[in-house]
This record gives sequence, C-alpha cells and structure tokens, in this order.
Amino acid sequence: MLIRNYQDADEEGWLRCRILSFLHTAYFDNVLQKKETYTNPSIELVAVESGQVVGLLDIEYEDVSGTVCTLCSGRGGMIWNLAVHPDYQRKGIGALLLAEAERKLKTLGIFEIEAWTRDDQWVNGWYQKNGFTQMESYLHVFITGEKVSNFVQSSISNLEPVVVEAHYSGNEKEKIWKTFDRVHDCNGYYKQLTPALDN
Ligand SMILES: CC(C)(COP(=O)(O)OP(=O)(O)OC[C@H]1O[C@@H](n2cnc3c(N)ncnc32)[C@H](O)[C@@H]1OP(=O)(O)O)[C@@H](O)C(=O)NCCC(=O)NCCS
Repeated sequence: MLIRNYQDADEEGWLRCRILSFLHTAYFDNVLQKKETYTNPSIELVAVESGQVVGLLDIEYEDVSGTVCTLCSGRGGMIWNLAVHPDYQRKGIGALLLAEAERKLKTLGIFEIEAWTRDDQWVNGWYQKNGFTQMESYLHVFITGEKVSNFVQSSISNLEPVVVEAHYSGNEKEKIWKTFDRVHDCNGYYKQLTPALDN
C-alpha cells in the first residue's frame, strides 16, 4: 500500500472510493461526479493498493488565517474529503493518510487542522482517536414532501421547492429533531499539531 500525492489519472478511482466509503454513512447521498478542487493551496493524498485507490485525504490550507478555517486561530488546514474504501477500513490507512498530511503541513509551517463530520459514531470516534477535539456542533436538516411548503416558500410563482437541505445553528435543537425526519449533528473538530517534525 502506497501513500502518494493525487494525480489527475486517479480521478475515477478517487470518486469510486469516496462513494463506496460514504455508502453506509450519514453522507450516503453526498455523491460527486468530479473530484473537488480548491481555491487555496491543498494537500491531496491517495492510498493505492494494487493500482486501486483505497483511501483519500484532501486538506485545503490557508496562506492567510481565517480564509478557509473557522476553528483555527492561526493558519490552518481544513479536511474537505477523507475516505477509506470499506474493504480496507480499520487497517490504519486513515491514520497513515493523516500522518503524511500532518508531516506536509508542518513543513509548510501550519500547525492546526479543522474537520467537520456528521453523526456517524465510529467516524467521530476516529477523529477523537487521532487527536481531534470536538469544538462546535450545528444541525444539517433535510426537509422533503409536504413539510417543505409548511416551512419554506419560493418567491417565484409556480416554483415549488420539494427538497430542502438546511443548516440550523439555533438553540432549539430538540424541536428541530422532533419536527423533521432527517436531521444530523454536524460536529466541528480541531487538532493542534506539535511543532516538532516527525521522521
Ligand atoms: C473514518 C475513516 C476515514 C477511517 O479510516 P480507517 O482507515 O478505516 O481508520 P483507521 O484504520 O486509521 O482507524 C481505525 C479506527 O477507526 C474507526 N473505524 C474505522 N472504520 C470503522 C468501521 N467500519 N466500523 C467501526 N469503526 C471504524 C474505529 O475507531 C477504528 O478503531 P478500531 O479498529 O480499534 O475499533 C473511514 O472509516 C471512512 O472512510 N469512513 C467513512 C467515510 C467518512 O465518513 N469520512 C469522513 C467524512 S468527514
């Protein structure tokens, strides 16, 4: 298993790995047909086994503090994509991808990482095991069917919204959980890196 920088030729394998890894998570319908690219500089890594992309990690990092991250106080890196193919999970690949990204961030003088993830307990467990601390949380709310028209109106005549994805950051979370069928906590994690460069 090799960890290396993403190359354009990896795109199809990257997309397939991401879709399969999300299949049984709260991100099951977050499907990409093109790999994401970033405005700011980024570290984009893949784990490759027998020519197949089995893991991926993208971190967009800041030249100027506050342009990408919200939880970091200095220049930080934001994890936008992290996935390990289900057949290769729990073999340490996620941790190896993170370690390589951290090594690269440190050489760039960046010592803070931020990530946001929904409420899959085992994914939150992975972040905690790998040194991240939960700092914040808000809700991702999906509204479908008849409920949409009760809560969301279109300003264009004859245009009726039928699916809404919304963010809730208020104090009445319980009410939101009770009112809508699909609600996720979205948890913000932060990790401070030690300045010393590991080998
Ligand atoms: C989170 C993820 C990247 C971790 O990668 P990984 O290579 O499987 O993780 P590691 O081998 O480094 O760490 C293993 C630990 O992660 C957790 N974990 C990983 N996969 C798991 C699974 N399928 N079931 C339960 N726990 C799991 C456990 O805590 C596990 O430790 P344990 O085996 O001692 O119980 C990977 O499981 C994944 O792709 N998850 C789905 C995609 C996702 O939700 N990405 C994040 C979106 S922000």
